[in-house]
Amino acid sequence: MRGLKGKRVVVTGGARGIGRAAVERLLEEGARVAVIDQDAEGCRALNSALPEVVTVCADVADEAATEQAFTEIEQDLGGLDALFNNAGISAPRAFPELSAAQWRRTLGVDLDGVFLCARAAARRMGEGVIINMGSVSGMLGMPGYADYNAAKAGVIELTRTLALELAPRLRVVCISPGYVLTPMQEAEYSAEEMAALNARIPLQRHADPTEIAALVAFLASDEATFITGSNLVIDGGESAGGTASL
Ligand SMILES: NC(=O)c1ccc[n+]([C@@H]2O[C@H](COP(=O)([O-])OP(=O)(O)OC[C@H]3O[C@@H](n4cnc5c(N)ncnc54)[C@H](O)[C@@H]3O)[C@@H](O)[C@H]2O)c1
Repeated sequence: MRGLKGKRVVVTGGARGIGRAAVERLLEEGARVAVIDQDAEGCRALNSALPEVVTVCADVADEAATEQAFTEIEQDLGGLDALFNNAGISAPRAFPELSAAQWRRTLGVDLDGVFLCARAAARRMGEGVIINMGSVSGMLGMPGYADYNAAKAGVIELTRTLALELAPRLRVVCISPGYVLTPMQEAEYSAEEMAALNARIPLQRHADPTEIAALVAFLASDEATFITGSNLVIDGGESAGGTASL
C-alpha cells in the first residue's frame, strides 16, 4: 500500500481477533502501531510476540482512561496519523431478558468507546483517518442483538456526521463486516450453528480476520485518500439479497 510506511496508527481491541490481524498487517506495511486493549494478559502476549507495538491496557468506555491512553501513545509515537476504532463486545440475549446493565455496557463499549477514541484522536491528529468498526448488524435487524445492533447503527451514522464535520482535515470511514472467524464469533456459536451460518452466506464461509485487515490497511493508506463518510460492507454477499440471503 502506498503511504503507510512510518504512519502512526492506534488500534483499539488489538490484542486479538480482527484488531490483532490489523496490527500484523499494518506492521507488514511499515506502519508504527499502538494498541489500546482492556485485556492485560492479551496485551502482554501481544508485546512478547511483537515487541515493537506500544500497548496500553485501558477500557475504551472509560473517558479518563481513554484520554490517558491517547496521551501516552502520542508521546511514545510522537503524534498520530490514523485510528482503527475496533474494540467491541457482543453477547446475544432475547430482548425480554436483556438487562439495562447489559444494554448500557454494550452501548458503552461499542458506541461510547468509538466516540471517546474518535474524539481523543481528532484532538491530537493533524491530518489523517479514523476507521470505525460497524457491522452488517448495524444495517439489518437480527433477533437477539438489540443492544449490539443499535450500537453498530449508531457507529455508522456517527461516521457520516464526523466525516462532514472533520473534513477536509480528517477522513472518517466505517467498515461493516459480516461474519468473521474470531474468538468473539467462536464464543457465540457451536460448530453446527457455524456450519448453518456458512451455508446461508453467498461465499459459503466466514471471513478470515486477515481479509478485514487488508481493507483496514487500504483505508489507512494513501490509496484511499478520496474515501470519507462511507460505510464499506465486507460480508461475502450476506447483505446483498436482503431477506433472500438471510
Ligand atoms: N467477528 C465478527 O464476526 C464481527 C463482525 C462484524 C463486526 N465485528 C466487530 O469487530 C470488532 C472486533 O471483533 P472481534 O471479532 O475481533 O472480537 P474479539 O472479541 O475477538 O476481540 C475484541 C478485542 O477487543 C478488546 N476489547 C473488548 N472490549 C474492550 C474495551 N471495553 N476496551 C478495550 N478493549 C476492549 C478485547 O479484549 C479483544 O482483544 C468488534 O467491534 C466487533 O463488533 C466483528
